[in-house]
Amino acid sequence: MTVHDVSLYYDELHRWTEKDRSFQTFSGLENDTIHRFLIDSDTGEFSPDTIYKFIDSQIAAARRSNGALRGLDAGCGYGGTCFHCLKVHGGRWTGITISKQQWRYTNGIAKARKLAKRIDVRLASYDDPLPGRYDVIVAIESLIHSADPAHTLAHLATALDPGGRMIIVDDMPLAAAPSDDRALLEDFKWLWRCPVAPSADEWTALATRAELRLVAREDLSHLMKPRAEAELDAALDDLTAQRSGKTEQGFGRLSDAEIGGLHLERLLRRGTIHYVMLAFEKA
Ligand SMILES: C[S@@+](CC[C@H](N)C(=O)[O-])C[C@H]1O[C@@H](n2cnc3c(N)ncnc32)[C@H](O)[C@@H]1O
Repeated sequence: MTVHDVSLYYDELHRWTEKDRSFQTFSGLENDTIHRFLIDSDTGEFSPDTIYKFIDSQIAAARRSNGALRGLDAGCGYGGTCFHCLKVHGGRWTGITISKQQWRYTNGIAKARKLAKRIDVRLASYDDPLPGRYDVIVAIESLIHSADPAHTLAHLATALDPGGRMIIVDDMPLAAAPSDDRALLEDFKWLWRCPVAPSADEWTALATRAELRLVAREDLSHLMKPRAEAELDAALDDLTAQRSGKTEQGFGRLSDAEIGGLHLERLLRRGTIHYVMLAFEKA
C-alpha cells in the first residue's frame, strides 16, 4: 500500500462521482466535502456540516501568532473545510491533497469563488515539507491513511506555532478489537488504504511525543446512522456481485471503497470503531 495508491484511490472515487452524480456514500460534494454525515442534535439534520459545530470552537481557541489565522487542512478533499473555516474564522487557509482530481476541482472552485488569494490548494502529501507555519491544523478522515502515524503527526506538529491547535477527526478502532471483529477490521483497513489506523489512545500517545497536549476528546459515533446488520448483509451481497464488473471498467478501487464502507458501518455499529474528534495544543 503506497501513497500513490491512495492518490489513485481518491482519483477513482472522483471519476465515479462524476459518472454517478447520485453517489453519496462518501461524498457531500454539494458541501465540497468527502467526509461523514452526522446528526445535528439541535436541528435533527443529517449533514456533512455537523462536524464544524465541534471543530469551530477548537479553531477559535487557537493562539494566533501573526494576527490573521493561518490554517492548514491536511488531506483537504474538495476544500469544504477550508471554505468553511475561511468564512467563519477568516485568515488564510492551505489545503493539501494527494489526489490530482481533487486538487484540480478544488482549485477550480476556489478561483470561481474568487478566493484563490485566501485559499491555497496544493497537490502534495502531508508528509512532504509543508509550505508554511500554522496556528491551526485540521485533518478530517485523512490521517487514517498514514502508513507511519508517528512520523505524520510529529511532522505536522513541527509546523504549528506554540499555542496552535491540531484537530483530528477520524475513525479510530478500539486498541484491542474483539476477536470476532479482528478479521473484519483488517479487511476494512486494507479496503480503505488505512494500514495502521491508530486508536484514540494511540493517537494521543503519539501526539504527546510530538509535544501536543490533549485539550478535547469527543466521541461522535452516536451521531451516525449505521444500518442494521441485515441491511448491511444485503448491501454487501449486492456490491460483491458488482465487484468484477466494476473492476473490469477500471473501478476496482471504488469497489474496495464501497465494500470497505460497509465493513466500517458494521464496525461502527458494533462499537469496534469509534468516530472521534481529538484536539491538541502545541506546547
Ligand atoms: C476521506 S477524504 C477527506 C477529505 C476532507 N478532509 C473532507 O473532510 O472532506 C481523505 C483525504 O485525505 C487525503 N490524503 C490521504 N492521504 C494523504 C497524504 N499522504 N497526503 C495528503 N493528503 C492525503 C486524500 O487526498 C483525501 O483528500
